[in-house]
Amino acid sequence: MPTPSPHASRRALLAGAAAAGGAAVLPLASPAHADDLLLSTDFSSGTTEGWYARGAVALSVNAEGNLLVEGRTATWNGAAIDITAHIEVGVRYQLRVLMRLPSGTDAADLRTTVQRDAAGSTAYETVKWNTAVTPDAWTEFTGTYSITQPADLLQFYVESDSSLTPVLVDDFTLSRIQEPEIQDLMPLKDFLECDFPIGCAVEPPEVVGKPAELLAKHFAQVTTGNQMKPDAIQPTEGVFTFDRADQIVAFAEANGMRIWGHTLLWHNQTPAWWFLDADGNPLQPTRAHRALLLARFEAHVTALAAHYGDRVWAWDVVNEVVDPEQTDGLRRSRWYEVFGGGAYIGEVFKIARRVLPRKVKLFINDYNTEFPDKREALYNLVQDLKRKRVPVDGVGHQAHVDYKRDPQLLGESIDAFRRLRVLQAVTELDVSVSDYMEESLPSTPPERLAAQGRYYQELFTVLRDRARHLESVTMWGLYDAVSWLRTWPVSRPHEAPLFFDDRLQAKAAYWGVVDPAQLPPE
Ligand code: XIL
Repeated sequence: MPTPSPHASRRALLAGAAAAGGAAVLPLASPAHADDLLLSTDFSSGTTEGWYARGAVALSVNAEGNLLVEGRTATWNGAAIDITAHIEVGVRYQLRVLMRLPSGTDAADLRTTVQRDAAGSTAYETVKWNTAVTPDAWTEFTGTYSITQPADLLQFYVESDSSLTPVLVDDFTLSRIQEPEIQDLMPLKDFLECDFPIGCAVEPPEVVGKPAELLAKHFAQVTTGNQMKPDAIQPTEGVFTFDRADQIVAFAEANGMRIWGHTLLWHNQTPAWWFLDADGNPLQPTRAHRALLLARFEAHVTALAAHYGDRVWAWDVVNEVVDPEQTDGLRRSRWYEVFGGGAYIGEVFKIARRVLPRKVKLFINDYNTEFPDKREALYNLVQDLKRKRVPVDGVGHQAHVDYKRDPQLLGESIDAFRRLRVLQAVTELDVSVSDYMEESLPSTPPERLAAQGRYYQELFTVLRDRARHLESVTMWGLYDAVSWLRTWPVSRPHEAPLFFDDRLQAKAAYWGVVDPAQLPPE
């Protein structure tokens, strides 16, 4: 019998998946599931019902039965409630509360957060990001929360982004999310096995419980979303914190997944100390300060190399250093200012090559690389680096696209970079369903999810046609509820850029890749 072609074996796998219940996944929206209510307060008793002051504020219950928080003197001041006893490792919870401002006060951005104390350290974890609140109506703050390791104390609280406004709070609930089973579907990693490893950027909550089951089923590679960025790894000079990244790395290794490191150098999420001298003054464009920056970079990479060695398959060495609006095509960052140009880029690649094991791949990563102007600026930079014998191995196309952007553009960029003989990868793919960046809708219009399914179909045709030139294709997030687009650049509750929905169920986006015949008709 002849060896089956990759495509024949994929068809066979797919037939198996359909038989295993593929047809049962439609309709595409997942059904509502009743969650288990664990705790609720509505202040109808006339008492604060377990809420207490966070900071020197006054709490009272008004005649309407709302909790009133007054006298805030710092943005973190507010009201808190202890939820420690209800939260188990690896379970997802929904935290919901209503907020309004007393009449006569100006609108303000508020948010909800959990303070998590564990093993002597404290973390502040956003539940629902900054959202505008007015005196006119109640605004709902709903978000999901989970922990990945046991905690000593968990306090849910309300605070503001920048204002000291008094706040009214009502109808708080904490519920345990009843997760539907992870669907018995064709794993993406098997479907794409003959093309490229399919990756996913994750945070620690995605490597426990049901999300972890979904992650291990479908993905062959992980990127540490935020946990290997400079601020996560070295918040204070000389103090390295690997624990959160290690949770992801341990999961990846236990499940045979390849690991992508993100990122050694970036203008964002880099602690302030990195760009200050010993007296706390901003670094200047002097020879001494250039040397200091490079020494700091080398110390940083040396610590990462000692900790991870070649367990990290590739690193984004520099992230987002290109700006096609500038005459030299380079972003004006603190690195750029101190170096008076882009000379730092070659220097940090040389340091990374010297310090990291030889087999670790070194990438330059950027967004919008599908657009011709950015493509050209990045191309010119990489060409220049190669001419100067800078050890850059590959180019990462972030591919934060939207459902109206021509999918062919990314293919054209991949084709263009082949001339430079560099490795290539798609590193941060998501497909926004917004019509413009600041759009904010309460829920996702169903026709956009269908259009997104067709978009993924076309995009993956473009990518699979170029599989030989791609080291991996990575999604920037596992399921919609944890996508960064929900909170960036504004609160966007309707954003749904990924393959799996808030309940971890496959969307049209998944079927666009795996079996477009399952997509709803146009
Ligand atoms: C984003 C994260 O997903 C967010 O959680 C964080 O608040 C901001 O950064 N390009 C990148 C990623 O290279 O590091 C960014 O990640 C998304 C855009």
